[in-house]
Amino acid sequence: MKNTIVMENIHLVDLQAQYRNIQGEVNSSIRRVIEEGAFILGKYVREFEQGFASFCRAKYAVGVASGTDAITLALKAMGIGPGHEVITAPNSAAPTAEAISLAGAKVVFADIDPETYNLDPEKVKKAITSRTRALMPVHLYGQPADMDAFRELARAYGLRLIEDAAQAHGAEYKGHRVGTLGDASCFSFFPSKNLGAYGDGGAVVTDDPLIAEKVHMLRDHGRKEKYIHEIEGHNSRLDALQAAVLSVKLKYLEGWTNSRREKARQYDKLLSAIQGVSTPRVLPEVKHVYHLYVIKVEDRDGLRKKLEEMGIHTGIHYPLPLHLQPAYAHLGLPRGTFPRAEEATSKVLSLPLYPEIKTEQLEAVVEAIKLCIS
Ligand SMILES: Cc1ncc(COP(=O)(O)O)c(C=O)c1O
Repeated sequence: MKNTIVMENIHLVDLQAQYRNIQGEVNSSIRRVIEEGAFILGKYVREFEQGFASFCRAKYAVGVASGTDAITLALKAMGIGPGHEVITAPNSAAPTAEAISLAGAKVVFADIDPETYNLDPEKVKKAITSRTRALMPVHLYGQPADMDAFRELARAYGLRLIEDAAQAHGAEYKGHRVGTLGDASCFSFFPSKNLGAYGDGGAVVTDDPLIAEKVHMLRDHGRKEKYIHEIEGHNSRLDALQAAVLSVKLKYLEGWTNSRREKARQYDKLLSAIQGVSTPRVLPEVKHVYHLYVIKVEDRDGLRKKLEEMGIHTGIHYPLPLHLQPAYAHLGLPRGTFPRAEEATSKVLSLPLYPEIKTEQLEAVVEAIKLCIS
């Protein structure tokens, strides 16, 4: 069946296509950091932090070593740790939960909304106990969670609200940017993210000066001054080379997001004609930034295999919910605990989508799906 429609392989993401367009600028910014020997923190990290805070329309962005660390350090900065519980989504990437454990707190999962795949506030409410200290909805695939409902829950129960915004740079909820919807927001700059570095990176974004100051200290061995360590911290600085790359890419992010949204609209339109394919359900009050374009189909694994044979590479985000992962067996949450998350993880399929994907490629993906499903 290989290449019956597709002339060349179509990838889930194509970072080379992006690099070709910004190569000159990226190379000279990397060269500048090396020539100046400005590797650790300093002006390149500061410049990116200011640019990213302003992109999020927030007061502070603190660059850290990864999205995982962004969550861990944000929790620690709020004094959340041993003896505390943090509620999050079981269908997210593993680091969402791992980062909570790394802060010393207990991960508590709640089920999701079956249509948006985001955490369901009603289910979260039922999971709140006297040990709960924070709620951490994930803006999964680039679509903001129902933040008004989470804000109301946080207010009613006196909890902190943290956004896992690793997949949602520039997304909006009721006109407000992700990064400003809770007490703190955690971003990842993993290479394939909408704003991706050429290595690992992350940021905590907040309007709260105390959280920003604490994360500043925590990421750099607990210090404000060179040899005075006020607390024990981490080595979790955003690398200056990555910051320089990110500052270049940040200028293009708005345009890339518009392109992702346009391509998603094309997919929506073309796929709506195919029986048995559910396209993403997007809430009217949000701006989805389509880190991933995720459809739902009954025989997901069968379709994926056939597409692969035709040279179309898809992804599954994520194939096994976190409560069923060996790492969380100790939580004692058997299959059936979160039926909606379990159902979603068995049927979701991420289609090729990136700003540079051509309309012909997208049409070829849809034609191939049509052929495989009918
Ligand atoms: C939803 C979510 N949270 C957290 C992370 C962790 O980010 P990082 O890989 O930068 O540590 C990721 C990325 O893998 C993610 O997709």
